[in-house]
Amino acid sequence: MQNIWAVQTQAQAAPEAWTVPVHPAAGAMGAYVDEVDLGALDAAGLDQVRRLLHRFKAVMFRGQRPDLSWEDYVAFGRHFGELAIDPYVEPALPEHPEVMGLIREADTTGYNFGGDWHSDGSYLAQPGGLTILWGSDVPPFGGDTLFSNLELAWHQLSPAYRSMLDGRRCLHAATGLGTKAPITRKGDYASVNFDHELTRIEHFHPIKRTHPETGGHSLFVNQAYSVQIEGCTEDESAGILKFLFDWSASPAMTARLRWEPNAILVWDNRTTAHYAIGDYGGFRREMYRLAVTGERPE
Ligand code: SIN
Repeated sequence: MQNIWAVQTQAQAAPEAWTVPVHPAAGAMGAYVDEVDLGALDAAGLDQVRRLLHRFKAVMFRGQRPDLSWEDYVAFGRHFGELAIDPYVEPALPEHPEVMGLIREADTTGYNFGGDWHSDGSYLAQPGGLTILWGSDVPPFGGDTLFSNLELAWHQLSPAYRSMLDGRRCLHAATGLGTKAPITRKGDYASVNFDHELTRIEHFHPIKRTHPETGGHSLFVNQAYSVQIEGCTEDESAGILKFLFDWSASPAMTARLRWEPNAILVWDNRTTAHYAIGDYGGFRREMYRLAVTGERPE
């Protein structure tokens, strides 16, 4: 039987020299980083941000300037590639359609955006690369974002299980979105049913995904969008996927990142799944999201 505690933790991995304070969030992944002004990165700073993301996969950059402009925020995102504009959501800021508002008022009940394990847009032909989230108004407690390290999840599988999955593809579909209420206007959440062409988008992707920059391998399936393994019957696929979803969400694979004011969180959807915890009823949470378009998974 696989010993889940035999994970290669961040502490065991070879230490790297960072020029700023880095505080690992958990053994599996995730870090808090201080003293990096994302609005004023030079080439060396940008290189360090990339390396931090390769190593920790989800990094919360604390203590950002409260007066960081939208232009600086968008420019930071553009360092990593093209910024996606969601055609189904009315932009929160008409002059910056690539910025998506995720706003939940203190008295909102019901649907919690991102409240299931997912990698952003994995149903797309080119799923999300990096996602960037600016916590503009964060609850005093609650509303944390959970992450799962899909690279660790791949490597901790037994060689026999990995060889069964290697070379196979899984269908990712947006059908799950159809059961939820969408964001309709400026980051508000509507309580209507979602029957939209978006919910009919689906694509096959390799289960063992290779990161284009590091060459690392990840277990690229997630509970929200991965629906069936190619070549398996529905029952066979359901059993395998259930195991993989539970496996990748097991505590030793995860980290919980706690929000604080003036923080910007960046994560890599190629190597992680995430889960927005909706446990902050009574408090407002206002976030602004950028989605960097990724590549076709290989
Ligand atoms: C998301 O799933 O993209 C949102 C994550 C969050 O609000 O913490």
